[in-house]
Amino acid sequence: MQRVFVTGATGFVGRAVIQGLRADGYTVRCLVRRGSERDLRGLGAIERVEGDVLVRRGLEDDIAGCQAVIHLVGIIREHPAAASTFELVHTQGTINIIEAAAMAGVRRYLHMSALGARPGARSRYHRTKWAAEEAVRASGLGWTIFRPSVIYGRGDAFITMLAQLARRLPLVPVIGSGRQRLQPVPVEDVAEGFAGALALPGTEKQTYEVGGPDAVTMIELLDLIGAALGRRRVRKVHIPLSLMRPLTRVLHPLPGFPVTPDQLLMLQEDNVCDPAPFYSTFGIRPVRLATGIGRMLE
Ligand SMILES: NC(=O)c1ccc[n+]([C@@H]2O[C@H](COP(=O)([O-])OP(=O)(O)OC[C@H]3O[C@@H](n4cnc5c(N)ncnc54)[C@H](OP(=O)(O)O)[C@@H]3O)[C@@H](O)[C@H]2O)c1
Repeated sequence: MQRVFVTGATGFVGRAVIQGLRADGYTVRCLVRRGSERDLRGLGAIERVEGDVLVRRGLEDDIAGCQAVIHLVGIIREHPAAASTFELVHTQGTINIIEAAAMAGVRRYLHMSALGARPGARSRYHRTKWAAEEAVRASGLGWTIFRPSVIYGRGDAFITMLAQLARRLPLVPVIGSGRQRLQPVPVEDVAEGFAGALALPGTEKQTYEVGGPDAVTMIELLDLIGAALGRRRVRKVHIPLSLMRPLTRVLHPLPGFPVTPDQLLMLQEDNVCDPAPFYSTFGIRPVRLATGIGRMLE
């Protein structure tokens, strides 16, 4: 296998996946939206086609000549005015890519979902990720699905933001009790899983839940971040959900506002899994969260 078609390459995870693929000797062709090309800087020689997963026409021509497709595109914040909704980007975008892959004669397909994707999930992010997975399973392609918990590393959104808050504020806001657990996983490990799956036919028709070795609450996560920053203690202030809900409903369209109503729903549930099958299948050694965060923030 030589040439891999990648969507979402300009994103945080995409850049790591491209590096993983190139390290394994693959040629990479990326679907990139006009104006986003600069985010591919520093990734070396990659083929680039201009396009958008929401524009179905011509996608099969873009994919033709590749031996596999890796579909990473996803959003955490909607921009309905730009036709960027969960339903369109996650579900219709996936349908467009798998249809185009099939038309281009590509069989192998790796799909980025998210931990918590399930029918009837409270958040539309998770429900639309599930609908996308259903389309993938029905596609007839040789699919593999990855469902990560929070992914972290340099350039991420979540842990970088928490670290900034811990650095700058005397009191870090914690939404609700902060007792829900999540299982952050290093972006390099996620990338290694994607690149590794291409060489492992046994991963076809498999779904991998992906998390790091440590499940932590938001409070524990803030303390780990504080320790990595050399702080003896991170002081926290809890913002009750009864206050956050109406605030978020009204203020979330503002660019600086940190959460959306959908994220608020997700923050209220655990986001943990048994990642052992992922680590053993891809031969990856798990990195303890304290070590990973320490490396990221040093
Ligand atoms: N980060 C996490 O903690 C995490 C956890 C679990 C699952 N995931 C999933 O992993 C994937 C990547 O996440 P990320 O953190 O790397 O997000 P990101 O940094 O926001 O990257 C998103 C990528 O999708 C592209 N994109 C968005 N809409 C598009 C469209 N209509 N057509 C073509 N490309 C489009 C973006 O392109 P532009 O550069 O043009 O905007 C960018 O390359 C998503 O599916 C996400 O749901 C992420």
